[in-house]
Amino acid sequence: MKRQITVIDRSTLPAINQRRLMRDLNAIGRIGIGNRGGVTRLVFSIKELRSRQVLIHLLRQAGLKIHIDSIGNIFGRLEGSDAKAPAVLSGSHLDTVIHGGKYDGPVGVIGALEAIRTIKENRIDIRAPLEVVCFVGEESSRFGFSTLGSSLVAGEVHAKDLANAVDAQGTKLADVLASLGITRKNLRGLARDPKTLKAYFELHIEQGPILEAIGKRIGLVTSIAAPSRFRITFTGQADHSGTTPMEMRKDALVAAAKLIEFIETTCRKFTTMAKGRVVGTVGALKIEPGVINAVPGKTELLVDIRAITAPAKNRVAKMVKAEAQHIADQRNIGVEVLTIREEDPVPLDKRLLRVTKAICDEKKLVYEIMPSGAGHDAMQMAKITPAAMIFIPSQRGISHNPLEWTGPDDIALGTQLLMETMIRVANE
Ligand code: GLV
Ligand code: MN
Ligand code: MN
Repeated sequence: MKRQITVIDRSTLPAINQRRLMRDLNAIGRIGIGNRGGVTRLVFSIKELRSRQVLIHLLRQAGLKIHIDSIGNIFGRLEGSDAKAPAVLSGSHLDTVIHGGKYDGPVGVIGALEAIRTIKENRIDIRAPLEVVCFVGEESSRFGFSTLGSSLVAGEVHAKDLANAVDAQGTKLADVLASLGITRKNLRGLARDPKTLKAYFELHIEQGPILEAIGKRIGLVTSIAAPSRFRITFTGQADHSGTTPMEMRKDALVAAAKLIEFIETTCRKFTTMAKGRVVGTVGALKIEPGVINAVPGKTELLVDIRAITAPAKNRVAKMVKAEAQHIADQRNIGVEVLTIREEDPVPLDKRLLRVTKAICDEKKLVYEIMPSGAGHDAMQMAKITPAAMIFIPSQRGISHNPLEWTGPDDIALGTQLLMETMIRVANE
């Protein structure tokens, strides 16, 4: 049965307040900024907590009803005319990578807040309640575990997933969660009842070069690539670099170098053979003892493999694991492969995409329908409610880098589109 859509006369919809939007984005962007412009707000760090405090202040100023769950996910709610209706939720995250930019995440949180406060101050009729959310720990930079807060809300965290999530100082994610009262037994305690949600929207910078290259200002996302992530450790033998003959070495770093090259060539070959684009990255490497005059005895690689289709990603992940074993056997050294997280690519909701597309058509906005190579909280929320994403261009496609940049007009345009879409869906 076709669902009825109440069409609001768009000409009566107000514009979001771009100055206020940019003021608040810049205020968040100054928290954790370093002297070369990079922003670092690792999950559960003082800076990240500070950014959440600032958000709470902004939600209070906007007169929204605030709810904070035990991990620290923050929800701000504006009631609609039907108090029992499921809510239209929108948001993203405020944590960042190390030396990242100021827009990956905050655009989606502050954008959703701006959309809701514009609706509130202009007394626009909405039937369903609207909520803005800031999810904790979307980035995997600290524990190797991404979309933490949204995974808990989606009821998607299992004890076995936490087993290998440890930060560089040896702090276990499971221990941090336990300190917040989230134990193995109540991992589902934060799960939100899907019946309380009507839809989830996330506004985000593209973090890739496509929109800018084709001269379009809006991207509508079809699906999100998901990663397989491993910690691979080669254990050889640390030896004196001056006295150990080349043929007698058990060099763990050379083994790692071979695997790194294998990952690059395999992903390139896979993509060229049109089996689906697969990307593979070794983003971190730990070498022991890590001194100039010793043969490396141990190396640890953090591996991230992603694709838009599960078979392509799983096939490459399997090849990488087999190659790690093969290299270790050939060199007579040890290898251990630990899975940090395995996820499948996530399709977003086709009907919500059609609603956003229809609004773009009415507004004569040119858009691109595209997949997302980056991960987002939307991939967790899509498991419990229809989810959609709006992308805005990233200058030169740069992200996870202090040079990340999106023009204020594009941020405002994306926010306006988000607001109009939320209104329409709330009133369906
Ligand atoms: C999130 O930014 C990711 O790693 O895709
Ligand atoms: Mn990111
Ligand atoms: Mn992000």
